[in-house]
Amino acid sequence: MSTTKREMHLNLFLVPAGHHEGAWRHPDTDVNQLLQFEHFQRIAQKAEQAKFDSLFMADRYSTSKRAVAYGALTGLEPLTLLTALSVVTKRIGLIATVSTSFNEPFNVARRFATIDHLSSGRAGWNIITSGTDEEARNFNYEQIPGHAERYERAQEFVEVATRLWDSWEEDALILDQAAGAYADSSKVHELNHKGEHFSVRGPLNVSRSPQGRPVLVQAGSSEDGRHFASTVADAIFTAQQTLADAQAFYSDVKARIRQSGRNPEHVIILPGICPIIGETEAEAKEKEAKLHELTNPKYSLLQLSNRIGFDLTSYPLDGPMPDIPENDLSRGHQSRAQLIIELAHNENLTLRQLLLRLAGGRGHRTIAGTAKQVADELEVWFKEGAADGFNIMPQLMNGGLDDFIDYVVPELQRRGLFRTEYTGRTLREHYGLPYPQSSFAAQPQYQ
Ligand SMILES: Cc1cc2nc3c(=O)[nH]c(=O)nc-3n(C[C@H](O)[C@H](O)[C@H](O)COP(=O)(O)O)c2cc1C
Repeated sequence: MSTTKREMHLNLFLVPAGHHEGAWRHPDTDVNQLLQFEHFQRIAQKAEQAKFDSLFMADRYSTSKRAVAYGALTGLEPLTLLTALSVVTKRIGLIATVSTSFNEPFNVARRFATIDHLSSGRAGWNIITSGTDEEARNFNYEQIPGHAERYERAQEFVEVATRLWDSWEEDALILDQAAGAYADSSKVHELNHKGEHFSVRGPLNVSRSPQGRPVLVQAGSSEDGRHFASTVADAIFTAQQTLADAQAFYSDVKARIRQSGRNPEHVIILPGICPIIGETEAEAKEKEAKLHELTNPKYSLLQLSNRIGFDLTSYPLDGPMPDIPENDLSRGHQSRAQLIIELAHNENLTLRQLLLRLAGGRGHRTIAGTAKQVADELEVWFKEGAADGFNIMPQLMNGGLDDFIDYVVPELQRRGLFRTEYTGRTLREHYGLPYPQSSFAAQPQYQ
């Protein structure tokens, strides 16, 4: 254990209206703003004033004709929006989701190197494999490739991207205008990678960026997902319902990181938390109930079907969750489907009750209470081996995020659990991660 004081890391999970399914219909939300830059600028600057480590945008590569009738699925592309936000912020990290199933490593490595340069070292990549047939149909397939196959491609994808970022050594740039010497070409390397999925010569056409490589984030919690995360990730997002489950996940993944020869202190684990804050617990619960009233079971059922990879739309809302064939679950987002099915069975929920349990956080932990109660719970998870920090998922971006920042953050700061000033400049520094040396510089024979 290092001797410096351990502080939690906070990431804001940025969505247009809020994480609750009813958020876009709430009176505090101006629905005309959801595609406007100024709205996102306000949120990013508010999170930065609160000294959040980072903000993060999820992504999926499809939408559903049926679901858009009821839900504000705006579909803004994360790298584009985060690039714009990098101009109006100075310190906060910017994490964009990009899928390894429907992209090529060269393009992705180049885009992240570009944002890392333009933001002075604040870029992060949430690596996903995508999990639905709906997405596959926008990319020449009828079905999403199998789970194991997607993770194999992801592993090779990240290996190639890493070598591309490393292909410029730290001191490759000479920048001598008088002598006409821009770069030392002996420090710029070809990869000549020929693998199962990719054939890439390199080098990258963008020089080494301030963080060396963007921060790599991973969020798969299945067996394949945990293996992948423990070998490549700098930070891990996860959905956990209870302290016990979060502790089990935390210790399992930290052990895997150690087994793969990496330092577990250099990989941070951030479970999602969906806070709803009131002056009293009763007021918080009332706020939650109001949001629940704004949900539409037709939409919720479509979203749930998509999430678990099984069509539930013809099942009665007041009946139980049906048994779902194992085969249907194993292709898509495995760990989330399992979490949801266990939740329904353990608590004997009807589909209607389950939909409301998922309305606020899609399986992430929801806490409705006072600022002190929320801070208490975060403190326990942080100190009892369940988390290195949290992925904060406000139910409403207008109002709900402000409540968390105005009331919970100061409480965490009073307890010495969260920074009052940034001490680093890059996202890697905020997360307490070391700078990665170029693997070419470390092993010059690998040319
Ligand atoms: C906080 C968080 C954010 C995620 N963001 C995305 C996303 O943007 N797009 C996506 O397709 N999947 C996303 N996922 C899903 C994961 O990438 C992964 O598919 C899911 O956790 C299931 O992984 P598994 O099949 O390894 O269990 C996210 C998961 C979590 C916990």
